[in-house]
Amino acid sequence: MLGSPALLLSGTLSNPYSPYLSNMYTPVQEKNLYDSGKELLAAQVQPPQADLLRSIINYADWKYYVQNDPVFSDYEYDQLYKKLTELEKMSPASIPGDSPTQRVAKGLSEKFPPVAHLVPMLSLDNTYNAEDLLDWDRRCKDLAGTADIEYCVEPKYDGASISLVYEQGLLTRGATRGDGVMGEEITTNVRQIRSIPLSAAFVQDGLTQIEIRGEVVIHKKVFAAYNAQRAAEGLAPLANPRNAASGTLRILDPEEVRKRKLSAVLYHISDYTLLSGNEIPEPLHTHFDALQYLYQLGFPTPVQEMKRFRSIEEVIAFCHEFEHRRDELPYEVDGLVIKVNSFDLQEKMGMTAHHPRWAVAFKFKARQATSKLRKVEFQVGRTGSITPVAKIDPVPIGGVTVASISLFNEDVVREKDLHLGDTVLVERAGDVIPYIVKAMPELRDGSEQPIIFPTLCPDCEQPLEKPADEAVWRCINISCPAQVVERLSHFCSKDAMDIRGMGAANVKKFFDLGIITTIPSLYRIDWSRVEQLGGFGEKSISNLSNAIEQSKTEPLNRLIFGLGIRHVGETMAKTLAHAVSYLKEFYDWTADQFQALEDVGPKVAAAACDFFHLAENRHMIDELEQQGVSLYNHHKSSDQGEGALAGKTFLFTGTLNKLKRSDAEAMVEEKSGVILSGVSSKLNYLVVGADAGSKLEKAKKLGTVTILTEDEFLTLMG
Ligand code: IVH
Repeated sequence: MLGSPALLLSGTLSNPYSPYLSNMYTPVQEKNLYDSGKELLAAQVQPPQADLLRSIINYADWKYYVQNDPVFSDYEYDQLYKKLTELEKMSPASIPGDSPTQRVAKGLSEKFPPVAHLVPMLSLDNTYNAEDLLDWDRRCKDLAGTADIEYCVEPKYDGASISLVYEQGLLTRGATRGDGVMGEEITTNVRQIRSIPLSAAFVQDGLTQIEIRGEVVIHKKVFAAYNAQRAAEGLAPLANPRNAASGTLRILDPEEVRKRKLSAVLYHISDYTLLSGNEIPEPLHTHFDALQYLYQLGFPTPVQEMKRFRSIEEVIAFCHEFEHRRDELPYEVDGLVIKVNSFDLQEKMGMTAHHPRWAVAFKFKARQATSKLRKVEFQVGRTGSITPVAKIDPVPIGGVTVASISLFNEDVVREKDLHLGDTVLVERAGDVIPYIVKAMPELRDGSEQPIIFPTLCPDCEQPLEKPADEAVWRCINISCPAQVVERLSHFCSKDAMDIRGMGAANVKKFFDLGIITTIPSLYRIDWSRVEQLGGFGEKSISNLSNAIEQSKTEPLNRLIFGLGIRHVGETMAKTLAHAVSYLKEFYDWTADQFQALEDVGPKVAAAACDFFHLAENRHMIDELEQQGVSLYNHHKSSDQGEGALAGKTFLFTGTLNKLKRSDAEAMVEEKSGVILSGVSSKLNYLVVGADAGSKLEKAKKLGTVTILTEDEFLTLMG
């Protein structure tokens, strides 16, 4: 029976219909964990605090991944995590299997062995309209032997289905659906999904084993950022979050899986075993309560979205209303799932070989359409990459007219065997850019023509090249006008220097007239020439010149992104910007130094290193500086102070006059600096108070440590 102390402790019972919807943590517990986290961040941690650190990190994960409401900054989280790893290193034998550090796996997975699901993973029957649902309702009533059925409705997530098994409260197995009977064991990868608890308090309710089903999904924002990064690396973007989720689950490198930031939503308990003598826990009588119960134990379930109804008419109305709101969810959904709420009735109704009779999917209108492929244009990108772009007969898909679709590279065109004149199937998932799913060769009439790739640049007519390790053809003429225009447009774009009014059309116009030639030339435009152009009044000129002026103080990460360094997308630009206080510091960096930054691989490191060593680029940066463009990380302090001291190490010694030691250390950590415990070659700054002793002597001897008085330290902190 339910009613164990932990559950009763867990906070206010906010839902009058179900007693199980309370948070995993009470407000008091949340406050305690948060405060303890802050305290430990500023302190030297001791081995007995490992358990507390684990609780804090689990809490931070839950806030971040289940509640979408982070409490610690990424930097703080990393510091807490690091402190825990350090403690665990001291006594490796006592690391519990469900410690947050144990998600990480070193090395590659061998392969994914087949495993039998405890009960087959069925799929769902589909409905598409009110009539289908009315039919289904009639069948349900027949099978249930009653007209009094409560339905529970929840989103149908468009991802990859998974099954999780918990034994004695510990996650012991994660598996893909496979053929429904046998799946692939992907436990190591499932452990990289931080919203999935590694342990949960099932045992307190007598549940010795439980199998939970759900969907692995990718947050639309995470997906977009990932694709932007791929684009920056010259790779074809992944088609949609669904493919991205299922592909990621099968990646052999768990570290790569972790980086892809998968999420999960759990929506079904498929099997459980009770310790003998235990009664079925109270919430495990209805689907609605079961999902509330799982949520209460820390699992991500659709508690916010799911609704109960006592008639199919209400269900239908909800389905129609929800379809309009589908894009408001952070994940892609392709419909709703309607389930009979009572587990007793579910059992009575049973299943076919393919799907349960007590559940059905209501599919939203497909965001797919067919059209004719008329033409392929070849566009020159800012790095010289040649991108084929399909021009199709305009077709409306999910409220947007699609006429132009990127085909990314030659391989994509070949793989899909696309021909001019083909009928093509086009998909546009939610916020995702439209893409061609496939050609429909069965509809060809013989008039279709092959797509011929150019051998010369469509703009400057220089021969194109295809580097051996790349999928794209490139124009390697660095002064190819098309490339220069693209680089200028990119520099001015919203996510880079955000120069309003300098869109692609104006950039092209100004470039063609020689008003701008290079990036620095943007800052010395001869406005009298612009005045003479048609379409530029006093107001628009003043707006434009103000926007250019304002861009001079954009944060460093935007400038770095705007410079268009190969493989450096928006996120990477932030990483780079955080690492320095002044752009030219990169002039002395080696590729190894770049690679030592979080998430920077050899490709990015080499590209960044090359960029900052090239004389022309240094010249461009000099010119920008002369024009008054800030190369400093001046936004660091407003950026919650984060990152200003990234990579810098500090140690305090002696008695400080003005500051408490712990406050001083917290100031350093706020700015991403690190506190060391002793003087070593790793130490950058020693802050000395009154009566400093051996540490000061040692630092002086080393000669590499900057020694600061308390006042100097305060100045440094701004
Ligand atoms: S219930 C026996 N609920 O849709 C219960 N499935 O097209 C079967 N899906 O294979 C699953 N969201 O992968 C259920 N809220 C939800 C779902 C959901 C997505 C997936 C699931 C299933 C597929 C069927």
